[in-house]
Amino acid sequence: MDSSRSLEYVLSMQGGDDDVSYAKNSYGPAAALASSKTMLTSAIDSIKLTKGGSSLIKIADLGCAVGDNTFSTVDTVIEALSRKVTVSDGKSDQPEPELEVFFSDLPSNDFNTLFRSLEDKVNSSSHKYFAAGVPGSFYGRLFPKGELHVVVTTSALQWLSQVPEKVMEKGSKTWNKGRAWIQGAEGEVVEAYAEQSDKDLVQFLKCRKEEIVEGGVLFMLMGGRPSGLVSQVSDHDSRLRHLFTILMDQAWQDLVDEGLIEEEKRDGFNIPVYLRSTEEIASAVDRSGGFRIEKMEVLKIADPMNAKQQELKDPESYGLAMANSVQAGLKPMVEAYLGPDLTCKLFKQYAIRAAANKECLKNNSFYYMIAVSAIRV
Ligand SMILES: C[S@@+](CC[C@H](N)C(=O)[O-])C[C@H]1O[C@@H](n2cnc3c(N)ncnc32)[C@H](O)[C@@H]1O
Repeated sequence: MDSSRSLEYVLSMQGGDDDVSYAKNSYGPAAALASSKTMLTSAIDSIKLTKGGSSLIKIADLGCAVGDNTFSTVDTVIEALSRKVTVSDGKSDQPEPELEVFFSDLPSNDFNTLFRSLEDKVNSSSHKYFAAGVPGSFYGRLFPKGELHVVVTTSALQWLSQVPEKVMEKGSKTWNKGRAWIQGAEGEVVEAYAEQSDKDLVQFLKCRKEEIVEGGVLFMLMGGRPSGLVSQVSDHDSRLRHLFTILMDQAWQDLVDEGLIEEEKRDGFNIPVYLRSTEEIASAVDRSGGFRIEKMEVLKIADPMNAKQQELKDPESYGLAMANSVQAGLKPMVEAYLGPDLTCKLFKQYAIRAAANKECLKNNSFYYMIAVSAIRV
């Protein structure tokens, strides 16, 4: 996992629909989608569709994964668009524009499951649309110039294109010893992530600038942090949510203590996620050019795992639920690094650690998402 190419091929949500699948554990991103639905709908309302204009409206969902969220995002866009089309073109003799949706994600995404559910989903949508899958990284070009009218990306842009190269240099100040993520990491490590994050977001925006038609909409919902927060997770409630990374570090340490892996192997595993601040996002949009931010909102989301504390009374079941939800996002990447047996052992330890953690069991946690709607100018 030391190059962007290899990350593209191992980073994915867990496919299928078993207990550790993303489809069964995507309630966190679902809560974020629900909170930003009104903003997404008004972003679509601001698109200018002229009478007799485009007879085909193209929509792309970048980092679509698979599961209910994938289709609910697209349904929101389709509903808002078809309302708009009816209002603006209802009395004209022009035929209604046709809609085409591109579901895009890394090649490692479970496109098979997505394609199998497509027919039902399209038929139950408020407006029929044509659909296609587009495999590839959103940090590169995915579509021809001036092709798209609406681009959405939800709960995906916090994933970087790669672990920063500096963080992979053994023995350097940026070697992230004892941690899988950057919470509590040395300043140099966080700085390396911040640099990578900025480079990635600018690259993302430059690609979209080429692909989106003037007047088109870019809607981005990503894990982030409010204005002025230097640390990734500096307030108590969101630190609690990110306990998952501390539990993960403890589980890795268990493997080291049991002599199953060397420390160096543990230290070489890093999660390529960065939570951008509103200023970092605004600055990247500004420097990339081509977009005007219409609205940017910080959403404070109650972690749906809070409800599980009530629902699952015993710590073991709760620990297992926590481990399942973490595996949904990380298992493919961990498995590519550790192999199946050690991965299984790691997440067993994770479940045990989560079940034993009183803070995790008793307190409610929150996390922040940043929603941005921008117009291609
Ligand atoms: C947490 S899931 C979010 C899925 C869905 N959009 C939702 O709201 O539930 C993040 C998705 O982003 C995808 N992703 C991460 N990095 C990506 C990249 N560079 N290019 C395209 N997709 C990426 C992952 O493969 C994953 O499917």
